[in-house]
Amino acid sequence: MFDPKVEKLLNEQVVAEMYSANLYLSMSAWFREKSLDGYANWFYVQYKEEMDHALIIYNFILNAGGTVTLGGIDAPPTEFKGIREILAESLAHERLVTSLIYAINEAALGVKDYKTVQFLDWFIQEQVEEEDNASTNLSRYDLFGADPKGLFSLDEELGARGYTQTAQVAVYEGGA
Ligand SMILES: [Fe+2]
Repeated sequence: MFDPKVEKLLNEQVVAEMYSANLYLSMSAWFREKSLDGYANWFYVQYKEEMDHALIIYNFILNAGGTVTLGGIDAPPTEFKGIREILAESLAHERLVTSLIYAINEAALGVKDYKTVQFLDWFIQEQVEEEDNASTNLSRYDLFGADPKGLFSLDEELGARGYTQTAQVAVYEGGA
């Protein structure tokens, strides 16, 4: 069972994670069109991880006796000014997501919903990593991206990122 406010915020977060997924997929398409396949790969993997996040919250709501009510997903931007704009936008977006997770945590604490507080621990840790990754991508681009060889190396490096399903997905699909 959930307090209605916490349940609403969790449902909104499922949609927010889906929006994040679509934002990164849109960015990935932009990179593919520019033949920056490594960057495209990195954002494609990011898309999959965001869909994992949505499913983790979706299953948690159901496992904890809540109701899933999915709202609409806003359309992501489809045009970007350049590589740096995308990297800066993804960092700003992750900071926004962190603030959303914190707001759910605060609401859960306010009604002594400790199961949700505990559930959000993983997301709070994950956001540290997400912000760090986005920030590293931006600063490496600022350091090396202006040089064609530097950009080539960065693109190659980001092309090596692989996807493995986030372990939490299976945990919550199992009804734990
Ligand atoms: Fe996420």
